[in-house]
Amino acid sequence: MRKNGSERADFATKVGLVLATAGSAVGLGNIWRFPVTTGNNGGAAFMLIYVACVLVLGLPLMAAEFTVGRRAHTNTAQAYKKLSRHWLWSRVGQLGVFTGWFIMCYYVVVSGWALDYLVDASLNRFGILGGDVPDYKGHFESFVTNPYLPIVYTCVLVLISHFVIVRGVKQGIERVSKVLMPLLFVILLVLAVSSLFTPGAKAGLTFLFRPDFTKITFQTVLDAMGQAFYSLSLAMGCVCTYASYFSKDTRLVGTAFKVGVIDSFVAVMAGIIIFPAVFSTNILPNEGASLVFIALPNVFQQAFGGMPLLGYVVSVLFYFLLVIATLTSVISLHEVPTAYLTENFRMSRAKATTVVTAVCLSVGAFCSLSMGPLASFKIAGRNLFDLFDFVSGQIMLPLGGFLIALFVGWVLDRRILHDELTNGGTVSCRSSRFVSVLLRFFVPFAILLIFLSGMGMFHIV
Ligand code: PHE
Repeated sequence: MRKNGSERADFATKVGLVLATAGSAVGLGNIWRFPVTTGNNGGAAFMLIYVACVLVLGLPLMAAEFTVGRRAHTNTAQAYKKLSRHWLWSRVGQLGVFTGWFIMCYYVVVSGWALDYLVDASLNRFGILGGDVPDYKGHFESFVTNPYLPIVYTCVLVLISHFVIVRGVKQGIERVSKVLMPLLFVILLVLAVSSLFTPGAKAGLTFLFRPDFTKITFQTVLDAMGQAFYSLSLAMGCVCTYASYFSKDTRLVGTAFKVGVIDSFVAVMAGIIIFPAVFSTNILPNEGASLVFIALPNVFQQAFGGMPLLGYVVSVLFYFLLVIATLTSVISLHEVPTAYLTENFRMSRAKATTVVTAVCLSVGAFCSLSMGPLASFKIAGRNLFDLFDFVSGQIMLPLGGFLIALFVGWVLDRRILHDELTNGGTVSCRSSRFVSVLLRFFVPFAILLIFLSGMGMFHIV
């Protein structure tokens, strides 16, 4: 398969490729969405459903993307073209690259906020070490509506990602993932342990883990599927692009499994960090930006009442964790169009990275401004930031996932799938058969349901 003798790099180590792919997966989905969704939807009961979704929906789709990426050994847009001449299937990869680019443009804005909050926490602007306690809501709102500041932080974050990407797969992505991901795990552990020392530890853990099956409805199952899908970075070209750097002896199903385990572990740990602290105060948990940027600084200020220094350290570490989690996701998104431009337009890596950085920063700046000076500019009732979030998350992502599952399950020669999943018959084929059955008969229909429910096509109570 490795024809053309190009000097395309592969990841040098198995640990490196697992950490890089897990770095893509671990992000806002784990930290600001999973914990609150779990707490509000039946705790441990929801977790069981989520894990089932990861196993029967997320991992088969990840294995499918791995198959395409490694087999074609080229960027995502080119990969589908290489494996099928049909006009529809050859465009699936282009959709992936486009979705990745699209999502990156607004994801970097939130990552920039995380960076600003890291600086604010370090400078004691949340008043945890004493001094003035700000109005947290006002603080957040005046920051995001500021015309310059969020853009400056977004630029810094994108430039960090730029310098990683420019250095290539081994020296850039792999090296940085091997440092940042272990660091992320250590911070996660330190924060989880500290949170257990807060007065609300018991109540928080009960809220998070208490199984309540009465909260489970069909809609919760759909939400769990959508969450698994987003959290594993599927259908955005990232997983397929990274797999094109996998070596021939990398076990695809095993790697998908490891990434799924890491991603779910981080999500659960985020819950263990957030809820004990939240339950030590009277602040109501809410998901998304309001949890992370409004409720949590307040929580950190109050929850460690007698130990302000601990509260301060926890707040700094928490935003550091958020920066690492989003940065590694941004890096994976950055790589998708960069690989595409490098290979399809014969650009040097430096030039391709610069083009991606420039486009992302320009569009990202508009997304950022749409929270402030450009707030009145709306398309279909949404500002630019929400529009990008909606179109990429609710439309392009399920559409891409659906087409990928159909392509790999029904169109791609079955021998290719088998060959890739078993490394040419050298590893067990039981899981490979299971994956292929799920890809054919389950995954496309499940995704169709998520899509229709996201579009509000039906409403289930
Ligand atoms: N998986 C990331 C998260 O949980 C989001 C993401 C999707 C990142 C696709 C990169 C690519 O936040």
